[in-house]
Amino acid sequence: MSAMPTADTPKGGLEDVVATSSSICYLDGERGVLAYRGHDIHDLAEQATFEEVCYLLWHGRLPNRRDLGDLQSQLASARALPEPVTRMMRSLPPVDGMDALRTLTSALAHYDRDLPDTSAQGQYRKAVRLTAQVGTLVAAWGRLQAGGGLIDPDPVLGYAANFLYMLTGRRPSATEARALDVALTLHADHELNASTFAARVSAATLTDLYSAVVGAIGALKGPLHGGANADVMKMLLELGQDASAERIDAFVRAKFARKEKIPGFGHRVYRTEDPRATHLRRMSRDLGQRAGSTAWFDMSQRIEGLVKAEKKLYPNVDFYSASTYYALGIPIDLYTPIFAVSRTAGWTAHVLEQYANNRLIRPRAEYTGPEYPQRFVPLDDR
Ligand SMILES: CC(C)(COP(=O)(O)OP(=O)(O)OC[C@H]1O[C@@H](n2cnc3c(N)ncnc32)[C@H](O)[C@@H]1OP(=O)(O)O)[C@@H](O)C(=O)NCCC(=O)NCCS
Repeated sequence: MSAMPTADTPKGGLEDVVATSSSICYLDGERGVLAYRGHDIHDLAEQATFEEVCYLLWHGRLPNRRDLGDLQSQLASARALPEPVTRMMRSLPPVDGMDALRTLTSALAHYDRDLPDTSAQGQYRKAVRLTAQVGTLVAAWGRLQAGGGLIDPDPVLGYAANFLYMLTGRRPSATEARALDVALTLHADHELNASTFAARVSAATLTDLYSAVVGAIGALKGPLHGGANADVMKMLLELGQDASAERIDAFVRAKFARKEKIPGFGHRVYRTEDPRATHLRRMSRDLGQRAGSTAWFDMSQRIEGLVKAEKKLYPNVDFYSASTYYALGIPIDLYTPIFAVSRTAGWTAHVLEQYANNRLIRPRAEYTGPEYPQRFVPLDDR
């Protein structure tokens, strides 16, 4: 008889377990390195656009001008939502933004003519179309929640600028558009994080690309994953813009005493600063300065100092994205959906990679239940 399997790691959660091979994302948690297809995230955040990053993730190399132009027009021409999906959006009750995104992403599948096409080209077209349309879904949802009318996408604008335009009805400044563009780049992929793993597990059954992404959206929603960015802003608002240093310290220490986690801190992989946080911290400060108040940034800095000093934990991608999005005037309910918009590029890159070299993902569990065999007692004798 073969030996029964035992648990993966002492602490569980597949910590440090290598579950697949992938050529998309390089992550070194000790040195704080993140790279997409070998390109350091700092270079991409400073010099690339989100569309270039999409191309890089999907194709494995940076686009030339022509490649980029082609992708920009494919993304721009796919932005409009099928009318029945817009109608469905209007008919939803006032639910959480991630719940709406999950439902409506699933609905998009019904209107994608490439749904049954499992060729590499068909899967790629779905990846592009879905990445374009999730942005429109989230912006349109934001409009409806704010009581505004829907705004048609503007094909002349890039992904980030068009998103802000569809959300606010106002053409964003170059600074605002660039800030969101960088945030999208920073969130686009992160190796085998929980939602990407969920997407790959689904894709490995050879289910369709939409089903894999819908599962990933559900996983991202949780407060231990993408849901943390909204929780950070709720925490800052609970403290209040005028909170004194003493009040902030007491608030954080009370959380420590209750053994509550501080949203936006800690990471399964990074043992040093999350390289994405470096950019978001700077953007949070710069956007605050432009808006005339760095109160949220200052408060975030105070919290960061205390959590670092007392728990040796660093801020992750979610901590400063909260005050960055707040400074951009984005409603809190859209923070995690925006994470999903960007991560759709990464999810679909992983799904395409999984399809291209697939084997069913089916691990084992260490059995901890009642001893085998148990005597079956008939219903009337129990
Ligand atoms: C990201 C996260 C889920 C990683 O979890 P993990 O690798 O399983 O680590 P653990 O939850 O086991 O945490 C290890 C220790 O650090 C502590 N810790 C981790 N994150 C913490 C946080 N944000 N605030 C306070 N303490 C934290 C844990 O309480 C635990 O302490 P203990 O060993 O004394 O029990 C975790 O850090 C967390 O919940 N962070 C807050 C939510 C968040 O920001 N998520 C977004 C991630 S990008």
